[in-house]
Amino acid sequence: MCSEEAAPPVGRVVRVDLDDTASRLGVPVEDIDHVHRLAGDRPSAPLPAKADAPAILDQLAVRPDDAAEIMAGWPDTGSPLWTPELRWLLDRSIALVRADLGGHGWLSPGPALPRERGPAWRHLYVYAYLALVDVVTGYHRDHGVADAVSWVTLADLGRNLAIDRRMHREGWPVMQSWLTLHARGGIYELGRLQHQRGGSAIDLHIPDSGPLTPEAVAASLDEARTFFPRHFPDERYTAFSCGSWLLDPQLLEYLPADSNIVQFQRRFELEPYEEPEGLDADVEVLRFGFRTLTTPLDQLPRRTVLQRAIVDHLKAGRHWQWRRGRFPI
Ligand SMILES: CC(C)(COP(=O)(O)OP(=O)(O)OC[C@H]1O[C@@H](n2cnc3c(N)ncnc32)[C@H](O)[C@@H]1OP(=O)(O)O)[C@@H](O)C(=O)NCCC(=O)NCCS
Repeated sequence: MCSEEAAPPVGRVVRVDLDDTASRLGVPVEDIDHVHRLAGDRPSAPLPAKADAPAILDQLAVRPDDAAEIMAGWPDTGSPLWTPELRWLLDRSIALVRADLGGHGWLSPGPALPRERGPAWRHLYVYAYLALVDVVTGYHRDHGVADAVSWVTLADLGRNLAIDRRMHREGWPVMQSWLTLHARGGIYELGRLQHQRGGSAIDLHIPDSGPLTPEAVAASLDEARTFFPRHFPDERYTAFSCGSWLLDPQLLEYLPADSNIVQFQRRFELEPYEEPEGLDADVEVLRFGFRTLTTPLDQLPRRTVLQRAIVDHLKAGRHWQWRRGRFPI
């Protein structure tokens, strides 16, 4: 399934000049230095053969409009879209993520790029993800994970690309890091929820895939209770945990008691509130409630009780909280 031809040439640029690479990519040199240090000369992985890519993108739930862009920017040998520094970053980003195969921490695959510069720039981390599909499905197989779980998990790529398109591309900088969890075998979609491996707790994530009914949540938790001991027997989980805007108790002031969000929140014992570093809950609530980060409050839709709550709360000068909680397995 892999083509030698599609493999980008390995890091000549780095031996030349990190400063030059950074300035050509339009990103801070610290970011390039970071990639260089983490990836070192570790092995990369080839992209799938271009002829196989449409079927793979389809399996990854990538919608036709996104798939067309990805195919148009494909890093063919000699493609004028791919400058040496873009090829270097693609190659080293794959190596960086691959080096942490099996990891489950937050990992940036590289700097946020000026994506408006074209399809290679826009989808560089998608090509990296595609190169890692073979690597991570191999890891899944080594752990006895069923193909169906692998593919539904990895198909979060298509969901995130569609959301990013809806967000006029505002959403991608977070998503490019988020998707390294999938590419390293750190997260598994089991029914309604995504389950991230961790220390003593399985961290829960809620994809944008319809209502969060208590029944669907219960079924997903049950699935996880058997999945992790079976496939990761060396890991011991004693709790489910979650960090989310969904756990902000202020939502109780606005949402009906039988709403799915309130019922989800009731499962958790909250940790004391601490302002999270590098994360603004007001921005996150806008991301998940409106799929925009920049629309002025007055222009946001007021279609649902949640949307009205978000806007009214912020207009009253109040703030939303990103809360963490857990409950025993
Ligand atoms: C989590 C999620 C599935 C909950 O949706 P749900 O099951 O419909 O939730 P509830 O039953 O509690 O909804 C209560 C009200 O809020 C509205 N609502 C819920 N989530 C909403 C959202 N993301 N955007 C706009 N309105 C939303 C519902 O439509 C309902 O309002 P209505 O009665 O006026 O129609 C949904 O918010 C979602 O898809 N979010 C995106 C993913 C996400 O936030 N993940 C967590 C990241 S940390």
